[in-house]
Amino acid sequence: MEYVTLGRSGLVVSRLCLGTMTFGREADEAASRAMVDCFVDAGGTFVDTADIYGSGVSEEITGRAIAGRRDEIVLATKVRWAMGPGRNDIGLSRRHIVAACDASLRRLGTDWIDLYQLHMWDGLTPVEETLSALTDLVRAGKVRYIGASNFVGWHLLSAELAAARHGLERLVSLQPQYSLIERRLEYEIGPAAQSLGLGLIPWAPLAQGMLTGKYDRSSGPAAGTRIAEADASAVETWERRDAERNWRIVEAVGAVAEEARRSPSQVAINWLLTRPGVAAPIVGARRVEQLEDNLGAVGWRLSSEQRERLDAVSSPEPVHPYDFIAEGQRSLEAGPS
Ligand SMILES: NC(=O)c1ccc[n+]([C@@H]2O[C@H](COP(=O)([O-])OP(=O)(O)OC[C@H]3O[C@@H](n4cnc5c(N)ncnc54)[C@H](OP(=O)(O)O)[C@@H]3O)[C@@H](O)[C@H]2O)c1
Repeated sequence: MEYVTLGRSGLVVSRLCLGTMTFGREADEAASRAMVDCFVDAGGTFVDTADIYGSGVSEEITGRAIAGRRDEIVLATKVRWAMGPGRNDIGLSRRHIVAACDASLRRLGTDWIDLYQLHMWDGLTPVEETLSALTDLVRAGKVRYIGASNFVGWHLLSAELAAARHGLERLVSLQPQYSLIERRLEYEIGPAAQSLGLGLIPWAPLAQGMLTGKYDRSSGPAAGTRIAEADASAVETWERRDAERNWRIVEAVGAVAEEARRSPSQVAINWLLTRPGVAAPIVGARRVEQLEDNLGAVGWRLSSEQRERLDAVSSPEPVHPYDFIAEGQRSLEAGPS
């Protein structure tokens, strides 16, 4: 395993983070515990969950699985989605955050959360209120560091400005969707996060399994896979994934995997590890065998030629004004002719 400090913080995390969204869902408790054991045995320390995963079940299983070795783990969880029917059981208000943090601590069976993440921006609550509640949790010893997930550039900057203005805790990380298939973060969110010194913790590094090489353009998704089971509202439906650009990426990953004698999953995750600002992709799995495969993504490097090939086949389509500004930047760097 390799290790890195998370963004501008001094918190050291393993370069792969274990995702627990499948715990209590596709993976029963025994399978989930086997994954935690496998991850820790491989040197993994960084574990990500959320109160909403299985409506608290993932936190409960994770808490039981790390009991007895809590000190070895950097435990991350999240708050924002509805945990009850009440109007204040959702969101990033002081009222909900304080209640949600205590509930997460109870389910996790621990006294502290290492990284408490805002699961998505809340357009109803002033960011000062959210950060002030989080700062109190840090001062009370319940939380060590704070991070965000599913924020765009101006959300990150709003949080940074509010923290600076009022002397509140600053975000240290951002958890966005990021993979060879989903690179739109590179337009603005990634550069914003980097300029603020946030460590990126990409979710869905395998595009919900698409980049494992197990899907085929000529047939639909095999039964018993996340993509086959996705309902129409999910980000991972077959209709969304079955696109010419995605198949070209899948084929390029397969070709590099053969050359490098690695699995497609290992290639896709290794590519992410080379991207600017990426601290630790979150590897999720249904079974321990999948996790073992994914853990093989660290400890080696793609060649620069292989990286460039993957960059080229997956580059996000030019979008105004980002393409216009990038062109302007290139001419600035070249200087007047
Ligand atoms: N912040 C957020 O909004 C957010 C959103 C989503 C996830 N997350 C976090 O990110 C973590 C990872 O997300 P994700 O589960 O979507 O990641 P992913 O790596 O893109 O997809 C994981 C899924 O791909 C399949 N898979 C994984 N490794 C495989 C392998 N080696 N061979 C074959 N199939 C394999 C499994 O599904 P099947 O076996 O069903 O095909 C597995 O559940 C989650 O656990 C959670 O902690 C955060």
